[in-house]
Amino acid sequence: MSKKTVADFVVIENTTLNASTYFIKLKASKPLPRMKPGQFVNVEIKNTDEIFLRRPFSIFEVDYLENTLSLIVKILGRGSKKLSEIKVGETLNLIFPLGKSFTYPESKEKILLIGGGSGIAPMLFLAKECGLQPENVDILIGARTSKDHINVDEYNKYGSLHFTTEDGSLGTKGFVTHHPVLKTNLKYFDKVYACGPEAMMKAIAKEAKVAGVFCEVSLENLMACGFGVCLCCIEPTVKGNLCVCTDGPVFNINELKW
Ligand SMILES: Cc1cc2nc3c(=O)[nH]c(=O)nc-3n(C[C@H](O)[C@H](O)[C@H](O)COP(=O)(O)OP(=O)(O)OC[C@H]3O[C@@H](n4cnc5c(N)ncnc54)[C@H](O)[C@@H]3O)c2cc1C
Ligand code: FES
Repeated sequence: MSKKTVADFVVIENTTLNASTYFIKLKASKPLPRMKPGQFVNVEIKNTDEIFLRRPFSIFEVDYLENTLSLIVKILGRGSKKLSEIKVGETLNLIFPLGKSFTYPESKEKILLIGGGSGIAPMLFLAKECGLQPENVDILIGARTSKDHINVDEYNKYGSLHFTTEDGSLGTKGFVTHHPVLKTNLKYFDKVYACGPEAMMKAIAKEAKVAGVFCEVSLENLMACGFGVCLCCIEPTVKGNLCVCTDGPVFNINELKW
C-alpha cells in the first residue's frame, strides 16, 4: 500500500454531470503513487470559515502519465456544495491515498459491480482496473430517477451496463436488488462488489449470503481525520470495533455485523 501524503492539487476541470453531481479533475505537481479502487482522499474544504473537517471522496480515476486524479462529487451538504463550486485554476489540499482497496478478482472470474448514488465512483474505477475481459464484468447502477443517473456509456467497453430507477424512468423499475442480474443470476458470479447507501449494501449483502457468493462493500461512515486517530468512523465487526478509514472502507460482508 502506498504511503499517505498531503499535497496541493490544481483543479484542471470541474464539469456538471447532473443537477447535483460534479466531475472534478486535479493535477498533482509530483508523480502520483499507485492508487487502487476503494481507496479515498480526504479533501480540505477551502474558501469557508465554517467547515473545519476534511471530507472523504473515493478515487474515481487516476492517470499516472498526466499526473491527474479525478473525483465524482455529489452534493449532500455544505462541504460537498462548496467543493462543487471550485473553479479551474484553484487548488485543493488532499491527504491521499487512504484506506484499503477492493480484492481484485482472479483472471477469468465473473464479477458484478453495484453502485448507488456517489457509490458509483469506486465501482467504475474497479471496472477499469480489474483486468478482466468485458464479458466477465457486469455493472449495475441504481438511482431514484433517470435524472439522477450520470452518463457512463464509455464503461460499455469494460462490461455490460444495467440500470435501475425507483420510478422506472431508466432500466428496471425498483431498487438494484430487483434487477434480474442480482435477483436471479447472483450465483453466476464469483465476486460481487458494492458501494452506495447503507440500506442498499445491506440488501445486497443479504442476497449474497443466501447465494453464498464472495461480496465486498465499501462503507461511507462519517469521517473526520481519515487516518485512524479520531475514532469517529467506527464500525462494529466480528473482529471488534474497526475504523472504516484504516481497516476499510472496503469490508467483506462476513466481517460485518449486518
Ligand atoms: C470512504 C468514503 C468515500 C466517499 N466517496 C464519495 C464519492 O466518491 N463521492 C461523493 O459524492 N461522496 C462520497 N462520500 C460521501 C461524502 O464524504 C459526503 O457526502 C460528504 O462528506 C458530505 O459532506 P457535506 O459537508 O457535504 O455534508 P454534511 O453537511 O457534513 O452532511 C449533510 C448531511 O448528510 C449526512 N452525511 C454526511 N456524510 C454522510 C455519509 N457519508 N453517509 C450518510 N450521510 C452522510 C450528515 O449527517 C448530514 O445529515 C464518501 C464517503 C466516504 C466515507
Ligand atoms: S475518520 Fe478518524 S479514525 Fe476514521
